[in-house]
Amino acid sequence: MANEIAGLVVIVTGASAGIGRATAVSLAKLGANVVVTGRRAERLTALVDDLADFPGRRLVVPGDIQDEQLAQELVNRAVAEFGRLDVLVNNAGLGHHSALAEMPLADVRTILDTNVIGLLAVTQTAVAHMKAQGSGQIINVSSIVGQRPFPHNGIYSASKTAVNFITRTLRMELRPYNITVSLVYPGLTATEFGQAKLGQSGGNRFGLQGIPAQRVGDAIVKAVRYGRTEVYVTLFDWLFTHINRLFPQSIDWILTRRS
Ligand SMILES: NC(=O)c1ccc[n+]([C@@H]2O[C@H](COP(=O)([O-])OP(=O)(O)OC[C@H]3O[C@@H](n4cnc5c(N)ncnc54)[C@H](OP(=O)(O)O)[C@@H]3O)[C@@H](O)[C@H]2O)c1
Repeated sequence: MANEIAGLVVIVTGASAGIGRATAVSLAKLGANVVVTGRRAERLTALVDDLADFPGRRLVVPGDIQDEQLAQELVNRAVAEFGRLDVLVNNAGLGHHSALAEMPLADVRTILDTNVIGLLAVTQTAVAHMKAQGSGQIINVSSIVGQRPFPHNGIYSASKTAVNFITRTLRMELRPYNITVSLVYPGLTATEFGQAKLGQSGGNRFGLQGIPAQRVGDAIVKAVRYGRTEVYVTLFDWLFTHINRLFPQSIDWILTRRS
């Protein structure tokens, strides 16, 4: 049975751009109460202004997800404002492009603090409330590169693999509490991700066009609505991931020839 989106209280991290923004817009159009976070407060305020004509209420809680205080502030303010927390969309993320053997360890820490530890901190705080209320949904935005590394993308891929394992573990641990935990695996998406990433420029060796962020946002909303736990956004992503499982060395060979 489909979940009604109208009236849900949803936190979206990384809502100031790209996939997170598109997700917040889709949820607001369907009448959800949306709590948005990210470092760029002015972007979040502009987003909320853009959503003024849609039903439901909004709350802006700006901050850096690497800051452990943000998790408490974000979840506590959402619960204080709306009285409950139904859905957490863990979307904030940062890429990195460089050879693993040469990348500064400070960058490794930044990627893991942002993509893994930040996600876990918000999740832990949200789960405490969801357990108390007896229900909840967590949607973690991973990537197809969390299933198959690309050269010069190693630490980002590793961070998303960590997200996959954290999510699957949580799914088992939280089932008794009526909390569902989903993974969304976007492929290349046209957002600011490529400009925001750390490390060297470049990275799209195949010259591929990304899909619109709205497609990923819609897939996330579908995951909320139908409680889907493993979500691929395109057939290409699904095929690529499954062919990779069957023939990993062939994919290694192709990717190495093109790097
Ligand atoms: N674009 C792709 O091809 C692609 C493919 C697969 C998966 N993904 C994943 O999709 C998610 C969204 O990425 P996107 O493509 O929408 O990229 P984006 O346009 O660069 O947006 C990233 C979002 O994350 C937020 N963020 C980054 N670092 C943060 C920090 N330290 N604290 C708080 N917020 C932070 C940014 O907000 P502020 O800068 O305002 O803080 C922004 O709202 C990420 O998890 C990414 O790994 C993207």
